[in-house]
Order: sequence, then structure tokens, then C-alpha cells
Amino acid sequence: MAHIPVLTKEVLEYLDPKSDENFIDGTVGQAGHTLLLLEKNGQKGKVLGIDLDAGQIENAKAKTARYKERVILVHDSYANLKEIVKKNDIRPVSGILLDLGFSSWQLENSTKGFSFQKDEMLDMRYDLQNTLTAEKIVNEYPEDSIKNILKEYGEEKFAKQIAAKIVKQRAVKRIQSTFQLKEIIESAVPAKFQRGRIHCATRSFQALRIAVNDELQSLAKALPDALSVLSSQGRLVVISFHSLEDRIVKNFFKEKAQEGIVTILTKKPVVASDGEVSQNPRARSAKLRAIIKTN
Ligand SMILES: C[S@@+](CC[C@H](N)C(=O)[O-])C[C@H]1O[C@@H](n2cnc3c(N)ncnc32)[C@H](O)[C@@H]1O
Repeated sequence: MAHIPVLTKEVLEYLDPKSDENFIDGTVGQAGHTLLLLEKNGQKGKVLGIDLDAGQIENAKAKTARYKERVILVHDSYANLKEIVKKNDIRPVSGILLDLGFSSWQLENSTKGFSFQKDEMLDMRYDLQNTLTAEKIVNEYPEDSIKNILKEYGEEKFAKQIAAKIVKQRAVKRIQSTFQLKEIIESAVPAKFQRGRIHCATRSFQALRIAVNDELQSLAKALPDALSVLSSQGRLVVISFHSLEDRIVKNFFKEKAQEGIVTILTKKPVVASDGEVSQNPRARSAKLRAIIKTN
């Protein structure tokens, strides 16, 4: 399934791209948002697209082929934004977008075990150079660390029971596949919570993905870097899908507004319309926040 970019109208409204301006898409993915920017910032404006997943860089390359003179694609983490900007000719930067998390393509085609709907190896790395996998966490981390990951990153209320069951089962057989883990989680959660609005393994899978890819720390590092590379009057737009991410973004924006460095453009997070959610269920939890650099 193709990835449908979220909040496209709103991204354009807040980034406000104009002819010849340069932008950074820190999570280029399948280039949905990048293409929208490229349609607006011709004839000389560039877009620097970054993604931690080499497969997504290949996807983005194919999607943006017709604009190749104006696109720079870099396989790296947005946590290294400052270094990436130093190495590439993209200044002055008029706007930066971070559309966090993962895409439908990764869920459905990457075979990295992001989804428990398919039986795959428990990997969950965006970047294959990363030595930490979900398999390693569930088989080698102490019970307490697993519990903390599930609790903190998944807000999983049965974290203790799930961690205990994982540790019990891994002593019998190494946990290597998504289906094995899904069954362990199902058996650890009380029967009446097994079939709620979301499947009882959803939060644990999310938590493992966040831990494997160090997602919250990368975001916390990227935000000040993004601000430092933006030119005056440049805009930063962040779309998050998780309350912990949104809190990091909200607090950072607030702090910088108090310091008089930025103006917040979104008093409340902007969310998708009912129409968009009905077309693209992934948009349901999307929250967009935007600032403009004033100083
Ligand atoms: C929601 S998707 C972006 C979709 C994109 N906006 C589009 O329209 O196709 C998020 C992307 O961020 C990438 N990603 C996750 N963590 C990253 C990081 N630390 N640095 C760079 N890219 C990252 C994922 O690999 C994924 O491709």
C-alpha cells in the first residue's frame, strides 16, 4: 500500500513554501510532503530529504526523479541534522518538516517485523547499521528493563505481566518472530482486555520500535539543531503520532517562545479533519505543531 502523507494542506500552510526557497524534510519517507514542497519552490529552491531507512531513500529517489537537480537525499538520522546541513549545500533554510514515526510502506513491505499482523523476524530497525533489534531486547534485556520500555514508551498497563511472561517464555525458546511475541503478549494480558479497540499487542510493539530506534532521544536532539539551522523567519513543522513525542515538541516550542527566539503558530496542535481520517486512518492520531524563528 502506498503511504498517504498526512495533513498536507496544513503542512503547506505552515511551511508556506515560495519560489527558490530551500527546505529540509527530515523524514522524507516516500517523499509525499517533499513532492508538495518541490511543486512550490521551483525553479531554484531545493529540498534536502533525510531518512534513517535506506529503503525509504530508494523510494524517495524514485518518486522525486523528475526533480533530481533540486533534491538532495541523505541516509542518516535527523538527530544529525547540523552535521548533515554542514556537508550539503542547502542554506539558507526556509523551513524544516519532521513527520515522525514510520510509514505504511515500512509496516507492510519492509519485512522488519513492525507489525504483528504478519509473521516476520523481530527486527524493527529503521537503520540496518543499528546493532540493537527488538529480538535482542526481548531475549537479552533484564525483565525490569523490558517492563520499563513497555510502560514508558507504550504506556502499557500490563507491562509487568507482559515482561514476566516474556522472560518465562524465552527460557524455554528464544523469541524470534512477531507471532511468537504476539502470542506471549496475548497470554499475559487478562482475557477481558485482549480484544479492545486496539489489539493488546499494539502498545508493546510500538514501545519496542521506539526503543530500538531511540526515537524520543533523536527527536529531543533534532529540535534545537533544526532551530539553529533555520534562517530568520524560517519555519519548523513537526507532526507527531504519540503523546510522548508531542510533549517533547510542545515543551521545546514553549521554552523557545519564552526565550523570545520563536513565535508559536499553532496555539493548539492541529489535527486531521474527519474527512481526512476517513480516507487515511493513520491520520487519526497525527498532531501538527509549528513555529517561526524570530531571532
Ligand atoms: C511517517 S514517515 C514519513 C512519511 C513522509 N512524510 C511521506 O510523505 O512519505 C516517517 C519516516 O521517518 C523515518 N525516520 C524515523 N526515524 C528517523 C530518524 N531518526 N531520522 C530520519 N528519519 C527517520 C522513517 O524511516 C520513515 O520513513
